[in-house]
Amino acid sequence: HFLGLDLGTSSLKAVLVGEDQRVVGHAEAPLAVSRPHPGWSEQEPAAWIAAAETALDDLARLMPAEMAQVRAVGLSGQMHGATLLDASDRPLRPAILWDDVRSHEEALALDAIPVFRSLTGTIVFPGFTAPKLVWVARNEPAVFENTARVLLPKDYLRLWLTGEHVSDMSDASGTAWLDVAMRDWSEELLAATGLSRSHMPRLVEGSEVSGTLRPQLAARWGMSERTVVAGGGGDNAASACGVGVVTAGQAFLSLGTSGVLFAANDRFRPNPQSAVHAFCHALPQTWHQMGVILSAGGAMQWLSRTLEEDAGALAAAVDASRTEGPIFLPYLAGERTPHNDAKIRGSFVGLDYGADRAALTAALMEGVAFAFADSLDALAHTGTRVESAVAVGGGSRSDAWLQIIADTLGVPLDVPVAGEFGGAFGAARLAMVAAGADPAAVLAPPPIHRSIEPVPARHEARQARLRRYRALYPAIREAMA
Ligand code: XUL
Repeated sequence: HFLGLDLGTSSLKAVLVGEDQRVVGHAEAPLAVSRPHPGWSEQEPAAWIAAAETALDDLARLMPAEMAQVRAVGLSGQMHGATLLDASDRPLRPAILWDDVRSHEEALALDAIPVFRSLTGTIVFPGFTAPKLVWVARNEPAVFENTARVLLPKDYLRLWLTGEHVSDMSDASGTAWLDVAMRDWSEELLAATGLSRSHMPRLVEGSEVSGTLRPQLAARWGMSERTVVAGGGGDNAASACGVGVVTAGQAFLSLGTSGVLFAANDRFRPNPQSAVHAFCHALPQTWHQMGVILSAGGAMQWLSRTLEEDAGALAAAVDASRTEGPIFLPYLAGERTPHNDAKIRGSFVGLDYGADRAALTAALMEGVAFAFADSLDALAHTGTRVESAVAVGGGSRSDAWLQIIADTLGVPLDVPVAGEFGGAFGAARLAMVAAGADPAAVLAPPPIHRSIEPVPARHEARQARLRRYRALYPAIREAMA
């Protein structure tokens, strides 16, 4: 058996998978986010450990025989977070998370140093790790002085599991300290933030072994002392492994709180001008690109709260064939791809007396589809053609939403049969490969339940509306500045 752990923002999930990749057990423990000031987002590293203890104690109690057979553990996790440790590996402050934007100015300043974009291939976004350390150096100098090591969230969990300081290439790509083409830390980028290689964990590929489970923990959960822990990946790269998006030409589209259009690449293909993320994948000699939309399912949750109506019910009232009505810009929390604009906010434009719930919901779904169209274009500028994509995430339960996205992009969306495809499952697959399984056999796409095909006439109509959507962003930015 194999175990996959995904340290998410709202919970830690564990899945137990058999040799045949069937999921035989699940456990989940919730996590809270602390937001002490506007734009801040923090978690105590101790809460991650406590969540892992809860989830794994549960699995050990419910499935002792299977846990005893686990050969390898894989890790997935929320990306970009800064966990600062002293020389005895004690956290010096709460971890600063991926959606924390306090280091907005520090990010702009680092992004203006040309070597950052040239070596990392991506804009230094406010959520990335390097600008967080500059913020700490300026605002909490004693913490910065005592920082002996900087770890990403899942790698702090690994430290507890194995005693080793290790990260994997995909997650390390989100720090802004990695030379992404060379798959190694850049001394130059580290030095620009007052750090050196000694502050960084050792790097492995996601499918390599990073260490062995500590005997004390193996005993606690009735596991073998030979259980190895794989490198794993950032949650997006790990999810990609879960849906078999690992070779050039494959893509997935995720409708979670954020929206992600993710394409696997056989080489490093940066395009920072359009705010594409160009990162290492969790497999050797493989890279990936993604467009990140900050509010996708999150925008729908906002509308659902505001209208006091279940999101599923709102979506069910939408007629995907209607291509008129107001236009929505989904920038409720700013946007990464394609604008890198932390200040822009969302809009409904063109409201009339007919703008009822269904019309607002349809506009919202279409606005998210337009944001995906911008990401598709940003990827296309690097030569990456997305010819179809696997649809995952909570929002993908709405056929109408997927139809609107397929029509807008002109790309078929493949809906997998019901099952487990998140980061935890992908991490379990990376554990299988680390334990010696053939990657080509393990990292297969899931069985597809159905494909949602674009309707050509609607593609034309959506494209015409997309041109209006694109004209609105600069106008609204200027008007609201
Ligand atoms: C990716 C990103 C998010 C986090 C969420 O760049 O910021 O997808 O990984 O966990």
